[in-house]
Amino acid sequence: MKEKEALCNAPIGVFDSGVGGLTVAREIMRQLPNERIVYFGDTARVPYGSKSHDTITRYSRQIVRFLQTQDVKAIVIACNSASACALEALEAETELPIIDVVRPGAKTALEATHNGKVGVIATEATIRSNIYKRYIEEHGSSINVIGKACPLFVPLVEEGLWEDPVTDEIAGRYLAELIDIDIDTLILGCTHYPLIRSTVGRIMGEKVTLVNPAYETARELKEVLQKKGLESDTKPELGTERYRFFVSDAADKFREFANSIIPYGILSAKAINIEDY
Ligand code: DGL
Repeated sequence: MKEKEALCNAPIGVFDSGVGGLTVAREIMRQLPNERIVYFGDTARVPYGSKSHDTITRYSRQIVRFLQTQDVKAIVIACNSASACALEALEAETELPIIDVVRPGAKTALEATHNGKVGVIATEATIRSNIYKRYIEEHGSSINVIGKACPLFVPLVEEGLWEDPVTDEIAGRYLAELIDIDIDTLILGCTHYPLIRSTVGRIMGEKVTLVNPAYETARELKEVLQKKGLESDTKPELGTERYRFFVSDAADKFREFANSIIPYGILSAKAINIEDY
């Protein structure tokens, strides 16, 4: 009984290439307030979106090994590029439940589209993998998925230019072709993009449904924990016990950014050497 209780109170391991996955962590905090989180942001090696499949998989394996040292009960890959490249390898190698951000977002888009034209905006690695397209077309054969890599969005978000004429200008150029082909649903297929949701929404117009996989991922995590009887039923005290943050570099900068999007004061982020794992 004690063992089961300890397992249920174990943290969820959440990882991303850097700060983007905080949009997913924030949703988990909101929807699953009883859960503890250990977050790892690979700030030394970000961005993943311009790297190769093999490199992203190698990085993701190291992070999962690190998270296992923190006795996590489940892992959330809070990064589209890592979900696109490493999910299969990670699922084959670990016994822990693994929740990625692609499948929940794709499922929602399938339900949302009426005209069968779904757009995906994401990093180069995610678009190159064709993961959203494969998943959606497998489950809804008449649906057409159009991907568009938007590599400049990540640095714009990291520079804090969430509402800025520069972001408007670049978004206008990236999104023009998706407007032309009349998509009715657009997946924000990169963890940074929910932070510029209002810019994207304004440019796409009201008729286009924006899908934020962060929301769906937290919902999926909840379902998985329920099914496996792994939910925590006690709310831990705020502070270092409930949410812990690790990074591979620049811990202070990470903490500052995290505090700008997470409404619980993040006291510290600890830098570790991820190459040791
Ligand atoms: N977190 C990444 C993703 O969702 C974006 C940042 C990066 O390129 O590493 O794809």
